[in-house]
Amino acid sequence: MSKIKPSKGAPYARIIGVGGYRPTRIVPNEVILETIDSSDEWIRSRSGIATRHWASDAETVAAMSIEASGKAIADAGITPEQIGAVIVSTVSHFKQTPAVATEIAHKIGAGKPAAFDISAGCAGFGYGLTLAKGMIVEGSAEYVLVIGVERLSDLTDLEDRATAFLFGDGAGAVVVGPSKEPAIGPTVWGSEGDKSETIKQTVAWDEFHADRPAKFPAITQEGQAVFRWAVFEMAKVAQQALDAAGIAPEDLDVFIPHQANMRIIDSMVKTLKLPEHVTVARDVETTGNTSAASIPLAMERLLATGQAKSGDTALVIGFGAGLVYAATVVTLP
Ligand SMILES: CC(C)(COP(=O)(O)OP(=O)(O)OC[C@H]1O[C@@H](n2cnc3c(N)ncnc32)[C@H](O)[C@@H]1OP(=O)(O)O)[C@@H](O)C(=O)NCCC(=O)NCCS
Repeated sequence: MSKIKPSKGAPYARIIGVGGYRPTRIVPNEVILETIDSSDEWIRSRSGIATRHWASDAETVAAMSIEASGKAIADAGITPEQIGAVIVSTVSHFKQTPAVATEIAHKIGAGKPAAFDISAGCAGFGYGLTLAKGMIVEGSAEYVLVIGVERLSDLTDLEDRATAFLFGDGAGAVVVGPSKEPAIGPTVWGSEGDKSETIKQTVAWDEFHADRPAKFPAITQEGQAVFRWAVFEMAKVAQQALDAAGIAPEDLDVFIPHQANMRIIDSMVKTLKLPEHVTVARDVETTGNTSAASIPLAMERLLATGQAKSGDTALVIGFGAGLVYAATVVTLP
């Protein structure tokens, strides 16, 4: 028989605070049109995007994360010292080691929490949230800070018509803590590595040499294949997450899908037959696709603008490069 004492965690976990940071520079479609042959009308009708934010040199992955985290911690009503773990999801932090999570943890005054980065593309927030829930219920942390942060403008080829208009920069953070009742449902997540070529970095870092006439690495995608996958397969995953949480579409207050494209969002709403009363996040219009940051940023804006309220039941689903996905039902902070 094992001599190891069982760990003591909380019965359940919930999101108790959210915060976001959007870079100060707002970039309208007109700026994108300087480098690709397109039109404002085409970009708006095909993607729903009108403006996005691009980070300045000072708005680093760490700096944006620190701003978003400060707001999330204040919203949660805890002190930074109470945070037992910091999880940062990003694909656009250019220094591989050490993890940017340790720098962020230190600079927000969190003491000595566990801190690490994860790479799960646009599903990164859901992956981080799922880990946080597990840590709290298992007892290895009481409060976990989950950050989704990207500077995708650094990884955008502004001459690529398929992607130049899509991406934006920003950081979203949530504090996850103990709960007496279920407030984060079962996660439906997975990966489809056979489709890894559909969204990818053009060249690996070790294949890029500044002294050779090669373009700096950028994110490229097969737009139509990704679109079809998102529309057909992700609606099924979203439905599975609702079923796993025992939530009918009528019970739902809010839908926060990954902010990739307005047409994907509209199509999922239709397929899921979401009733009129469900508030749908459409932050992509003014934020663009910020990958791991998109769901917490959209969540923060819905709450800040009064379109959603604390205690609402929300379905969140992220999907992207990998291909990977993660969907769950949460109670809003
Ligand atoms: C990128 C996306 C908006 C492109 O829309 P699309 O309808 O698939 O566009 P296509 O590539 O099929 O091209 C359709 C037409 O528009 C043209 N076109 C392509 N890019 C264009 C641009 N930026 N501006 C103007 N015209 C463009 C094409 O040349 C083509 O013209 P043709 O019909 O005369 O040949 C769309 O595929 C998409 O949103 N995909 C998913 C992207 C996404 O969300 N990725 C992230 C997931 S995490």
